[in-house]
Amino acid sequence: MLNWKIRSPHQYQPTPQELEAVQASYLKTINSEEIGFFRLPQNRELLAETQKIHEHFKHKKYFIHVGIGGSALGPDMLLKAFGSQSGVEFIFLNNIDPDDMYRSIEKVDIRESLIYIVSKSGTTAETVAAMSILLRELEKAGIKEDQYKDYFVFCTDPEKGDLRKLSIDWGVKTLSVPANVGGRFSVLTPVGFLPALFAGINAKAILEGAEDIQKHLSDPKIGADFYQLAFWIKNLHDKGVHQTVMMPYSSLLKEYSAWFVQLWAESLGKEGKGLTPVPAYGATDQHSQMQLFMEGPKDKVMFLIEVGKFSKDYSLKNKIQFGSFAMLSQYSLSQLMKAELEGTLEALKESGRHVVHLKIPSLQEEYLGQLILFSECLTVLVGDLLKVDPFNQPGVEAGKKYAYAWLKTLG
Ligand code: PA5
Repeated sequence: MLNWKIRSPHQYQPTPQELEAVQASYLKTINSEEIGFFRLPQNRELLAETQKIHEHFKHKKYFIHVGIGGSALGPDMLLKAFGSQSGVEFIFLNNIDPDDMYRSIEKVDIRESLIYIVSKSGTTAETVAAMSILLRELEKAGIKEDQYKDYFVFCTDPEKGDLRKLSIDWGVKTLSVPANVGGRFSVLTPVGFLPALFAGINAKAILEGAEDIQKHLSDPKIGADFYQLAFWIKNLHDKGVHQTVMMPYSSLLKEYSAWFVQLWAESLGKEGKGLTPVPAYGATDQHSQMQLFMEGPKDKVMFLIEVGKFSKDYSLKNKIQFGSFAMLSQYSLSQLMKAELEGTLEALKESGRHVVHLKIPSLQEEYLGQLILFSECLTVLVGDLLKVDPFNQPGVEAGKKYAYAWLKTLG
């Protein structure tokens, strides 16, 4: 089971009254009809529907995932963590850089591809742009509109948006993101499930892991630790700690950091509040950002994630009998990784930094599921404490409006 420990000179114990008030408002939020992410682990129908679609298209060689923000980062995290174990090749079109688009499209045979268009709103410019390009690629390959249903699957709002309308016009199979689940909270829906199934990832185990942590956090003792963690972060925020470093000691969790960055930034960064998320990963960032984390401003909460057991390992045994070669020779690669994590934790403690040591037993689907739901719950709870709405993103909308206005000036 995922566990965590605060290691910091700063402690904060909420009063019983504070705790009671926050508990009441948080439980009201996550259990309300308008907010759906917390109950996703129990919703096995979404997975069953996705399995049917996977069954129908499983002969495809390429899986082209089109989406941005919450419609792409979750699937990207799953693929990076577990890889494609099925032989299906994945292409993520999650940006509109024309050069990158060219490189990505160039390597696929569109006739052997399944194109998964993911957009909750069904109107996002970057996603619509990528889809328009793929439609022309299909046209070049001689594929007509009445065949689109053999190439596309959509994932969007159950009722609204341009994609929903197109799905009816073209008869394209379409999965739903529940209306009460926003983009960055949607990885445990068909948004994440379909790529996971195509990759041979155990989506059911991810959901079961999420369900485990959900129950775990409802346990009075563990739940109390969880609330305390959120209060501690909020209290540090009030004292000017305005950054959050997310640093797993695993390259395979690098995209988890990217997913967390969006969740934390878009949910909490508003009304002059927030804790700018900084992605990092060990051991690579020991030789990059660590100097700053160790001796720079004490304005960061740092999450260090330990993976208890790696699935593969290497011995560092060698025949060189001096210096660092001889010193390392008796250990394994995973022991060196563990030593670097332990060493960093100790040094950060000595330098009075604010650290949360998170640990998962291994990088398996159930534990990533736990990490996902834990991160979402913590984000919402900190949002509650900061008194911001973690489910909107008004700042993103403003930029979109001006981008469209600028496009119009082109005539
Ligand atoms: O979390 C969010 O809601 C956003 O990051 C969206 O996921 C992102 O803007 C993409 O939106 P959509 O899924 O509507 O295309």
